Formats: sequence, C-alpha cells, structure tokens
Amino acid sequence: MTVTPRSIVLIGFMGSGKSSVGQLLARDLGWPRVDTDEMVAAKLGMPIAAIFARLGEEGFREAEGAILDTMDGAQPAVIVTGGGTVLRSHNIQRLRELGKIVWLMADLDVLQQRLSRSRNRPLLQTGDPVATIGTLFATRHEFYKQAADFTIDTSGLSLEEVTKAIRNELSVER
Ligand code: S3P
Repeated sequence: MTVTPRSIVLIGFMGSGKSSVGQLLARDLGWPRVDTDEMVAAKLGMPIAAIFARLGEEGFREAEGAILDTMDGAQPAVIVTGGGTVLRSHNIQRLRELGKIVWLMADLDVLQQRLSRSRNRPLLQTGDPVATIGTLFATRHEFYKQAADFTIDTSGLSLEEVTKAIRNELSVER
C-alpha cells in the first residue's frame, strides 16, 4: 500500500466538479476535505456573493490568499480551491507546498452546460453569462496548465471515474 503524506489539491474552472469530486475523494480516502471558498466565507462571516458585493473581487482574492497562508499541510487533506485561486502566483506556490495539484479540466461547452443553472456565482452575474464563461475560460486556461502537476479531462467522466483516475494517478489508498 502506498500512502502519500501530501495533500491533493483540486484546481479548475467553475463547474469543473472540484467540490463534488473533493467530497467523494475525501470520503474514499478517509482524509479531511478543506474548501477555500468555505474557509473564506467562514472567516468573513458571509457568503461568497456577499463578499464580492461588499469587498469586490480584489477583497475576495486577498481573503483567499490569506486563507492559503494559514494552511500548514501537516495532515494530508483534499484541498478544494476556487476557480480563480491560481490567478495569483503566490497561491500556486503555496498549493505546491501543500500537495499535488490536479487540474479538473472540461471542455468549454460542457462547462457552459453545467454552469447554465448556476445562480450563485458572482462572476457570472453578467448580461451574457455564456460569453463571460468563454472569456474567463480562455484567459484562465494557461494558469491551470502551468499550475497543474497533472490533468484529468472530466468532460465525459462520472464523479466516480474522476475520483478513481486521481487515485490511480497518485497511487493513494486509504
Ligand atoms: C471563482 C470561483 C468560485 C469562487 C468565486 C470566484 C472564480 O469558486 O471562488 O466565486 O474566480 O472562478 P468555484 O470554482 O467553486 O465556483
């Protein structure tokens, strides 16, 4: 049995399945799951949408970076990040210190489909969310690519298949 002492960090665009895969993976491995969005919301005492409304994207990013700085990585965990966490190089550096970075990639049309019912993502509250997704997707692709230790194309995969692919790649067992 091989057990990595390091955490597994999930990155990827909104709707790429980070939260759901993170839950399943953490349950399978018996590891704790930490979610940077949840930590930011808990620290500031308000939901992400309210943080964006009151402090703007920059205020949210500051809080997100500060949360990452508090993580010591002593215990292996499944770390779920927000879709924009990789936009700051300091964050990527921190995530690398914490564990292996897995990019949950998906095709643009798949993400647009998955996000079509999303009502709570502040960055998508625009006149044309489909176009916004396209623009953000194009801008961010390279950030995910640069940050990732490895990539899983989740487009045609179930949550279970994605989770299994991560475990296979990292050879982690409970
Ligand atoms: C963001 C994605 C969100 C959340 C915030 C900003 C982004 O997380 O961190 O709304 O910049 O892509 P999810 O990727 O979990 O939706």
